Amino acid sequence: MVIKDSRVNRVSLKAYAKINLFLEILGKREDGYHELVTVMQEIDLFDDIEIQEADSGILIVCDDNDIPTNNDNLIWKAARCFMDRSGIKNGVRISLKKRIPVGAGLGGGSSDAAATLNGLNQLWGTGYSSIELVEMAGTIGSDVPFFINGKTGLCTGRGEIVSPISVNNEYVYVIIYPNLKINTANIYQNLKLDLTKDMKDVNFFLNQLSKTNAADLGKSLYNRLEFTAIRLYPDLLKLRELLGKQDFCGVQVSGSGSALFGLCERRCDAEVIGEKLNEICSAKVFVVSSVK
Ligand code: C5P
Repeated sequence: MVIKDSRVNRVSLKAYAKINLFLEILGKREDGYHELVTVMQEIDLFDDIEIQEADSGILIVCDDNDIPTNNDNLIWKAARCFMDRSGIKNGVRISLKKRIPVGAGLGGGSSDAAATLNGLNQLWGTGYSSIELVEMAGTIGSDVPFFINGKTGLCTGRGEIVSPISVNNEYVYVIIYPNLKINTANIYQNLKLDLTKDMKDVNFFLNQLSKTNAADLGKSLYNRLEFTAIRLYPDLLKLRELLGKQDFCGVQVSGSGSALFGLCERRCDAEVIGEKLNEICSAKVFVVSSVK
């Protein structure tokens, strides 16, 4: 969602987080990336982004001092990419209110980058199509293209080829972030691919997703990266075991971790489990719904 303020040239956006409901690795590619198939779901945990036109340069201001505001930030890379592509010489001041935990597998940095591309397209009325924005997004990171259109998407290739999926139901999740930052590249480097092992079929998962039944969906959640994340960070196993004892329809690590999520039948169940987890563990807990 983009809100445009016409008095000053300024736009405000919500950059939603994602979870991976399904993730299977198909193999390692010659370029070093992994070929994957994943179903990503936006959830209503979001960062706030405000983009205002400035005379020159790219200035990022963030309420969280741990977030880099230089050219390491994917927002900066997105703005640079957009300005180079469009030839626009004006500058931008981008302010970021961060809520999505970092190093969590929730796609926060990627979503901020996609919101920046969408926002600049609005701010400057450049009229790029979403296909063009998705293509720009792919040069910034593998997960960025998904967030151009968000909601629910089937992502293939290294993650950058996105097909929208229409889902009728709204699902409720509890997100648990164990205050641990995981580096995605590290998980992929330590992944032991045994391609003779049974590969999970995304079509079976998509069928379960279309049935709009949380209990069935919970049983078919899958993430090939979870085993490696737990092997490298054994504390995640303890947390997963604790979550396994709660009344979830299914529990899983999101992306390369460190956040886990539990799927609930109803919002009131999620609120009760969320409160209980807040009391018994030090992790950050969020009760969220899928974005439709
Ligand atoms: O594309 P992105 O920069 O977000 O990826 C971060 C790292 O994760 C890559 O450098 C790569 O090591 C790993 N990766 C991978 N296969 C993918 C996506 C990411 O190996 N499909």
